[in-house]
Amino acid sequence: MCGIVGYTGHEQACPIIIDGLKKLEYRGYDSAGVALVTSRGIKVRKKAGRIANLEESIRGERMEGTTGIGHTRWATHGSPNDLNAHPHMSMGGQIAIVHNGIIENYAELREELKKDYGIEFISDTDSEVIAQLIGVLYEGKLEDAVYEAVSRMRGAYTFAAVAADEPEKMVAYRKDTPLIAGIGRDCNFIASDMTALLKYSSDIYLIENDEMVVCTPDKIQIFNKDRKRMDRQVLKVTWSMEDAEKGGYQHFMLKEINEQPRVVKETLERRLNADGKIHLDGIELTAEDLSKFTKIYIVACGTAYHAGLVGKYAIEKFARIPVEVDIASEFRYRDPFVDENTLFIAISQSGETLDTLMSLREAKSKGARVLSVVNVVGSSVARESDDVFYTWAGPEIAVASTKAYTTQLICMYLLALYMGTLRGTITEEYCDTIIGELRQMPDKIQQILDGSHKIESIAKLLYNRNSIFFIGRGVDSAVAYEGSLKLKEISYINSSAIAAGELKHGTIALMEPDTTVIALATQDRLFEKMYSNIEEVRARHAHILSVVKEGNKMIRKVSTDVIYIPACADEVTPILTIIPLQLFAYYVARERGENIDKPRNLAKSVTVE
Ligand code: F6R
Repeated sequence: MCGIVGYTGHEQACPIIIDGLKKLEYRGYDSAGVALVTSRGIKVRKKAGRIANLEESIRGERMEGTTGIGHTRWATHGSPNDLNAHPHMSMGGQIAIVHNGIIENYAELREELKKDYGIEFISDTDSEVIAQLIGVLYEGKLEDAVYEAVSRMRGAYTFAAVAADEPEKMVAYRKDTPLIAGIGRDCNFIASDMTALLKYSSDIYLIENDEMVVCTPDKIQIFNKDRKRMDRQVLKVTWSMEDAEKGGYQHFMLKEINEQPRVVKETLERRLNADGKIHLDGIELTAEDLSKFTKIYIVACGTAYHAGLVGKYAIEKFARIPVEVDIASEFRYRDPFVDENTLFIAISQSGETLDTLMSLREAKSKGARVLSVVNVVGSSVARESDDVFYTWAGPEIAVASTKAYTTQLICMYLLALYMGTLRGTITEEYCDTIIGELRQMPDKIQQILDGSHKIESIAKLLYNRNSIFFIGRGVDSAVAYEGSLKLKEISYINSSAIAAGELKHGTIALMEPDTTVIALATQDRLFEKMYSNIEEVRARHAHILSVVKEGNKMIRKVSTDVIYIPACADEVTPILTIIPLQLFAYYVARERGENIDKPRNLAKSVTVE
């Protein structure tokens, strides 16, 4: 999705902005641009394609100016070309803006500006309307024109603006999509994502919805929509620059897969006391609260939704409360049964996914208690929740989510165990046993990573398959969905996941010689059933790659290849089972020469519907 970076200070703004934009590349984009306020007016340069194209186009050019804004665009209105790239300027060049989001009434505003002011539009975007509108309203003070402009705009939008006549000022406004301001030494920044600023600032202000931030080199001021000055605490960012760099790995995805032992440990330890008991510091969840909940919803998108499927399994098993898991874009529009007796759990790595955020608001407006499992501190989902259970995954840069998923699983297990002990549906001993199992996960994940060459060689055999199915039963079926998503999003192989027992109700029609099936068979309790399902596909001469716990010899009889995960309790296998599937997807995509960290058509944080 689109990214915004702005700088005002005493150094040349252009290299700093471009550097920040590069840190946002992971979010997915199709063009990039920069606007600098120079002594001779505003200079805009923008280019379709990679940031490298933009750099190439300005090579050798004097790009002077100590205040400027930059943007990476992910096209919504208008195709990805040079003209539609941001920044956009007002007619006459007085104002430049960069924008994230959508102006819903842009067509109406466009007609008005054409008719009343004779404005000639040069792009097909909704965003140009902002520049033109501020341009006609501008009377020497950028803040005034921005306030007036936002009063006429509808939609979800965050934008930053500069004016030729106010060379040391940046004004940005937040509406529904993220915005932060970073404090530098004799300079200040704005950005849509803290990753852009890690190199320059670890002290940031989170800008709330419907707030304006005005930055000059020596100060940052925040105002609400009624122009009241707002006080804001500085937030210390704990993520480091190294966290957001590849650190010797060929791809961010591989680095992030390999970080899982560490981040799983971190997420776990932060919620365990010295005696190994779970604490939910900062989250008030009493036995009384729990007895009140008649329903739990877990709502999320994509990989986070798949973590929710495992969460349902854990909560129902440990705490014996019925849980419904819903895809956020469906939940929003189906008038769900939500009231004050509902616990709504949102799961989101970025905390900015629009569908998840809107579902949360819907649930909250109906009186639900909202708890979120989020990775990005201070993100919208985190801020709007009653309680937040943070995953400590650090910045996840690869579009395909890996370490966020495993840390989300840890949070869901801890939450479910906590609920179970409060409700008395599990004994302390059982809880301790599962915690003991969870504590072994970092080492066991490491064992799988240490054996990744085997998965690499299997991937080399299977990388050119046209379609690959994932099957499993019980909690393995939840992992099958995630394994399949990982594979399709980065390798573009057509893949689907199915609960193994469902095969014979339709999908088995697709099995033919050489169809590839990845069979997850880690559940001891369900092994015999799963074995029969594998037999069913084997009888159609499918190529079967099974994933089982070590020690399982029987599986060899029905499998072409086997991947073993370390022995563990059935309850917690998803944390291990997903690791070989992530590695498999990675190696297959690498073998096919795909753009692993930035797969086509995908964006990291989906802030549009
Ligand atoms: C897939 C992936 C996406 C995200 C989904 C939700 O690898 O990353 O499916 O899981 O877009 O994003 P968050 O968790 O940021 O709400």
